Amino acid sequence: MKSFDWVRSLKEQRPLIAPSLLAADFARLADEVRRVEDAGAKVLHVDVMDGHFVPNISIGVPVVASLRKVTKLPLDVHLMISDPARYAQPFIDAGADTLLFHIEAVPQPEALLESIRSKGAAPGLVLNPGTPVEAVLPYLDLCDLVLTMSVQPGFGGQAFKGEVLDKVRVLAKAVRGDTILSIDGGIGPDTVAAAAAAGIDLFVAGTAVFGADNYTERMNRLRDLARQQY
Ligand code: DX5
Ligand code: ZN
Repeated sequence: MKSFDWVRSLKEQRPLIAPSLLAADFARLADEVRRVEDAGAKVLHVDVMDGHFVPNISIGVPVVASLRKVTKLPLDVHLMISDPARYAQPFIDAGADTLLFHIEAVPQPEALLESIRSKGAAPGLVLNPGTPVEAVLPYLDLCDLVLTMSVQPGFGGQAFKGEVLDKVRVLAKAVRGDTILSIDGGIGPDTVAAAAAAGIDLFVAGTAVFGADNYTERMNRLRDLARQQY
């Protein structure tokens, strides 16, 4: 199964730092988007939570639609919801470019991965820190992205779980060359290099970007630290 061309061109620009809007000021979202665009972001990470799959509620379809109006950057949409199949079409209609869902929510993910692709978005699987990498290995050919969680999903600002990098190393050997490997949770100046060395292409960073005084300086630093590992 071939990736979308834009996914391949994104991968060629690695290391990619994807600011996670969960850590942005929601009352000034368009402004925050402009600031990370100016800081060099090539992709934006959008966390969708349903209060059921994870114990928190965040962004929904209308917010993705509003984001779509203020940016041309790809929206990397991370569904932390129990029934991603039900909401795939609405999120894609709203402007999601990627749609990532959890293997724990959909243990037999083939049909949903294929349906996301047929609807025009790049499909990806996510695995929680406690989920063995074997759970996703049979489906890698259907994925344009594979996201390894390095914290328990639900909240920003948690400590990075370094042990998940063993799974990243396995994934790096197993995926097609054009698949984007991403990591989410606790990424910052102290952790980004280890993740890059393990084979990560795309680094989701919430607190590390939006908590910085200077977004440009912080994004450049994260990118430089990652690039040195390739
Ligand atoms: C957590 C979300 C993350 C979150 C990461 O469930 O999936 O995207 O924003 O936040 P930081 O970078 O602060 O750990
Ligand atoms: Zn996320």
